[in-house]
Amino acid sequence: MDPQAIEQAVTVLRRGGLVAFPTETVYGLGADATNAEAVARVFELKGRPGNNPLIVHVAGIEQAMALVSQWPATAEKLARRFWPGPLTLVLPRNDVIPDIVCAGGPTVAVRCPDHPVARALLEAFGSPLVGPSANKSGGVSSTTAEHVRASFGDRVQVLDGGPSERGIESTVVRIEGARATILRPGVVTHEQLAEVADVEAYEPVQGADGAGPMPSPGMLKKHYAPTTPTRLFDRTQRRAVFDRLETGDKLVVISHGIDADHPALIRMPRDADGYARELYAAMHRADDAGADAILIELPDAEGQVWSAIRDRLRRAAAG
Ligand code: TXA
Ligand code: MG
Repeated sequence: MDPQAIEQAVTVLRRGGLVAFPTETVYGLGADATNAEAVARVFELKGRPGNNPLIVHVAGIEQAMALVSQWPATAEKLARRFWPGPLTLVLPRNDVIPDIVCAGGPTVAVRCPDHPVARALLEAFGSPLVGPSANKSGGVSSTTAEHVRASFGDRVQVLDGGPSERGIESTVVRIEGARATILRPGVVTHEQLAEVADVEAYEPVQGADGAGPMPSPGMLKKHYAPTTPTRLFDRTQRRAVFDRLETGDKLVVISHGIDADHPALIRMPRDADGYARELYAAMHRADDAGADAILIELPDAEGQVWSAIRDRLRRAAAG
């Protein structure tokens, strides 16, 4: 990355402006986390409800510790093992970060991203940055600079760091004293977390959309969704779905299992990491095709990041 582009981005951020930046998971929409007006612009541009708090990106453990009122041993262990990386920790906050970032709540989410451009930006800026995924609220996350431009046009500067390596959002873990709970499954798996600390597995909260307090307000049932109606199918329906393509139904099909070629079939990798990496690009492509519906095969493989992938697919097809 051109050091001048980083410098220019830092100038924009210092003035309270927004800069989209690449991370290893998805692109983030960055703003100075200590500047309430800058953060308000992020909510406005994304169309994000004010009750959904933002993740604060930090350069390292020290910067994270400056934002919290407690740093339990579990936080230390998890951060040491997984940072920089796709793990977000939710902890009791102090008052360094303005209320708007945390949606007025008592906790702050912190994450140290593992991407050379994100790290260079955080180093050069010298202070934490909010970074929700760089897409309209509820829409499909961005894994390329083009996706970001498609969402926001030229209203934000975009640092282009190429396609995101991991492809789906960080795992979010809430830490309360000795207790740790997964709020959002991601590319760091429960199994990996459990090697380091006692972490409770993810329990999907049914019907978490709607009013009232939510464990993680961002975990609305419908999320990560294309604008085209999206439905899921399973392996037993492969033939029937492919037949519908061949009879000319205006569909786009996303599948890792259908072993055939068709212009409206987006074939996905069969390994979880590869699938995750390509998922959002496939959804963007499918959405752009102007079809009547998008049909996605729900993978049924166990473990690894498959369950995080299923979580995103179910949300994409919810409602
Ligand atoms: O991988 C990622 O985490 C990406 C990259 C850019 O870092 N960011 C991201 O941000 O996915 P966003 O805003 O799209 O999702 C943040 C999630 C939301 O579900 C939000 O509700 C939750 O984290 N969250 C943020 N602060 C929280 C808090 N204090 N307590 C509970 N959940 C929180
Ligand atoms: Mg998001």
